[in-house]
Formats: sequence, C-alpha cells, structure tokens
Amino acid sequence: MDLCLLTARVLNAVHVQSVRSIHRSAAVCSDNLFVHRDSPSNNVETPFEFTSENLKRAEAIISIYPDGHKKAAVIPLLDLAQRQVGNWLPISAMHAVAKILNMPRMRVYEVATFYTMFMRNPVGKYHIQVCTTTPCWLRGSDDVLATIHKKLGIKPGESTEDGLFTLSEVECLGACVNAPMIQVNDDYYEDLEIHDTEEILDSLAAGKQPKAGPRSGRFAAEPAGGLTSLTAPPPGPGFGVRDDL
Ligand code: FES
Repeated sequence: MDLCLLTARVLNAVHVQSVRSIHRSAAVCSDNLFVHRDSPSNNVETPFEFTSENLKRAEAIISIYPDGHKKAAVIPLLDLAQRQVGNWLPISAMHAVAKILNMPRMRVYEVATFYTMFMRNPVGKYHIQVCTTTPCWLRGSDDVLATIHKKLGIKPGESTEDGLFTLSEVECLGACVNAPMIQVNDDYYEDLEIHDTEEILDSLAAGKQPKAGPRSGRFAAEPAGGLTSLTAPPPGPGFGVRDDL
C-alpha cells in the first residue's frame, strides 16, 4: 500500500475515533440532598445538647486522640450525636460537635455531607438500606427492592407514614460475598430471598429484632457448598516446629 494512502487511512481512523461519543455513566439522582435546607425540624434552632452520659462518652472518645489531633474525633462524635437524636443528624447537632472540638462548622459540614452514614434529615425508626451495586444486583437486589416497595408502599428516599421505615438505595456495603443484602440500622441481613425480606420486615413491624447475618445457613462468608480449606481447628502456636532445633 502506498505510504500516503496508509497515512490517510490512519488519520481517518484517528479522526473517526475522536468524534465518537464519550462514554459516561447515566446521571443518577441521590436519595439525599447534599446541601442543607432549613426545615421546621432541622434548623439552627433545633434543640440539641449531648446528654450527660453521651458527654462522658464524647470526652472518652476525644481522649483517645493525641494533642493537636483531637479534631479527628469528629466522625465518632457525629455518630454519637446521630444515635442520640434517633438515626439522623440535625444541623444544630453538627454545631454542637464543632463547638466541642473547637473546629469551624464548615469542616463538620464537609464530613457530615461526605459520608453517607450520616443522615441529615429525619428517618424512620428502621432505616433500610438496600445495596444495588453489581454483585447484589446480579444476585437479585431488584427483587429485594421490589418486595420492600410492595410491602411498605415506599420508594427509595421515602418513609412510611407511621415513621417506622425509611428506604434508601445505596452502593456497595462491603458484603458482596453474601449478596444480595440489606442494612437495617446497624445490622446486615445477607443471602436474601424474597421470603427472607418479607420476614425481616414483618418482624421489625411487630417490634421484634430479626437475627442478623446470612439467611442461607452459612455462618459467615464461607463457600455456599461448605468449607474447602481451614476445615480443622487451628493447631495453635508451636505447630510444625522441629524438636531437634
Ligand atoms: S455489592 Fe452489595 S454489598 Fe457489595
């Protein structure tokens, strides 16, 4: 092939590639608004003060961090405040944490808005987070989500009228080996089938605490067909050390 023709073809190929559309993921709206909007239940006047018990806890947490790094306690203190309020974090609680740690309020807002574990608006007594990232999706998270929607009548980002449940759709919660799974407050429920999801919701609605963990009969994240290694109890220290040495 003539060199000029080859060059023209290469340039043409480069040109064709460069005008192809850029691939990008679809824009997905979050269940949460990432800016603060004053509301009757969440504004600077919303009453918040750590209880004396939690104040002691806060002091104990802060004491773990060395001088000059006390601000690193911001996450555990926000978590403490969120637990005290009831699963969510009013802006007045962020201000209280900023005051205790002597840090600018903006720094606290940055942390609270970055980590999805902090709910900045009221949620139900049971905050159900359904993981729909690829491993959970491949294993049936759509069915789990549909079951919750059918039973509770709420979509992601909504709460039931009785204030009992809030539903969120979230990214990977780190339990992919036990997909599909949901998190309810602090507990993980894994290896879910539709009937497991229904049973968990029924138990919670009845005020019972369903057993957390895998529903498939697995103890943890071992292979579904049983252990293939580490099948005997650990032999303990000294195993394999030669006597003649
Ligand atoms: S993908 Fe669902 S926990 Fe990781």
